[in-house]
Amino acid sequence: MKLWGGRFEAGPSEVFEKFGESLHFDKRLVDADIRGSQAFARALSRVGILNASELDTLLSVFETMRKEAATPAFFAGATDEDVHTLVIRKLKEKTPLADKIHTGRSRNEQVSLDVRLWLRDEIDGVRKLLVDLLGSVLTIAEKYPDAIIPGYTHMRRAQAVLWPHYCLAYFEMLARDLERLDQTRARVNVMPLGSGALAGSGFPFDREAIAKDLGFAAITKNSMDVSADRDWALDFMHFANLTVLHLSRLSEDWILYSCEEFGWLDLGDGVTSGSSLMPQKKNPDSLELIRGKSGRVIGDYLALMTTMKGLPLTYNRDMQEDKEPLFDAVDQVAGCLKMAKVVVDTTKLNPALPRQAAEVSWVVATDLAEELARRGTPFHQAHQLVGKLVLHSVRHQMKPSDWTVAELEKFAPQFTAEFARLLNPAEGMKSRELPGGTGPKAVAQALGQAKERLTGWKG
Ligand code: ARG
Repeated sequence: MKLWGGRFEAGPSEVFEKFGESLHFDKRLVDADIRGSQAFARALSRVGILNASELDTLLSVFETMRKEAATPAFFAGATDEDVHTLVIRKLKEKTPLADKIHTGRSRNEQVSLDVRLWLRDEIDGVRKLLVDLLGSVLTIAEKYPDAIIPGYTHMRRAQAVLWPHYCLAYFEMLARDLERLDQTRARVNVMPLGSGALAGSGFPFDREAIAKDLGFAAITKNSMDVSADRDWALDFMHFANLTVLHLSRLSEDWILYSCEEFGWLDLGDGVTSGSSLMPQKKNPDSLELIRGKSGRVIGDYLALMTTMKGLPLTYNRDMQEDKEPLFDAVDQVAGCLKMAKVVVDTTKLNPALPRQAAEVSWVVATDLAEELARRGTPFHQAHQLVGKLVLHSVRHQMKPSDWTVAELEKFAPQFTAEFARLLNPAEGMKSRELPGGTGPKAVAQALGQAKERLTGWKG
């Protein structure tokens, strides 16, 4: 069955039919399509196209269909063009009233409605996964409140930071992702029905009532925009892109931090794999897959961006290509969030190793230079002097703790006895107590605030 055909003498070629069908993927929208059609039937009754008993019949047939559509048998052997056609064909099999359901409605607005309804539910699921992961990040941050690790720039040891400070960096990234997801939901949660094919429906629907019926917060403001617009899907994909980008960077960090050369982290057995050949291997496959899938999600985004960018207003069939990348982005971001939580929940930090990495390197150099500056040496001179101290140490294979007070003072008179304390990386960070810094008090406060924010998001 087709939803069109009167104007044609010949039917579509077999090749085109196969090429154009979207049912094998848009069947995912079937529940949204039926719910949307029920609301539309109520709208049709309000404008007098369906009487009360016709409406009752349609609603109950749709309700039965919703249950049937939850089983694979519903789709067995179906060769319909798309899910909207399938639902109407099934309706026709059950009641002649089916011929009225598409009055004043276009698939162009229906597809927008269905995907919005579907995506809104998915967003709520993804949001929960994201909040759960944020909770796990806080838990592992708090588990090692005093652990010291070297922070890196250029993948070279830079300055010492507290482990929870490092974890809170990811908390902030994911918190911004949550903010983006909430903004996306608001833009998805707008009701398009009443737009018709592009010009607005020819029937005086109470669009606000349809919005209320389906739980939408607002109605769209321009019918041409509805037929042409996929920004809201791209908004979701932008959220998904940044989220997987953040998870991919966490994965990269943790793959490194758990390798033999670092040895800081022990990943749980449950998220690692062995080798078919090398008996000793414990590979971080879960993290590698998150990193790998992030590439795929970025590809999904590019696919839809590229599809949309040259289209004339309004609807073009190209836009049918929106669904597969969107569906994939939803599935992959959900999968990555779920996987990342299990990894975070089962990872252990060995605080001694990163601490040692900090102690044997010169991550305290900045602390020394800044202390000199605090005591009156202009910073560039202080920087030069500490640089010389590091050079000397590197040449003589000395780590900071190898220096005695007397030797330091001999090296340069500016290094008074108080400087010996700063050779310990745990000391220098105490000067970084401003908001956002790695000072222990600042970090404790940031942790407390993060916990409060998390409670608010759970609310
Ligand atoms: N399957 C189509 C899609 O997803 C539905 C809209 C069809 N509209 C049309 N004018 N052919 O884009």
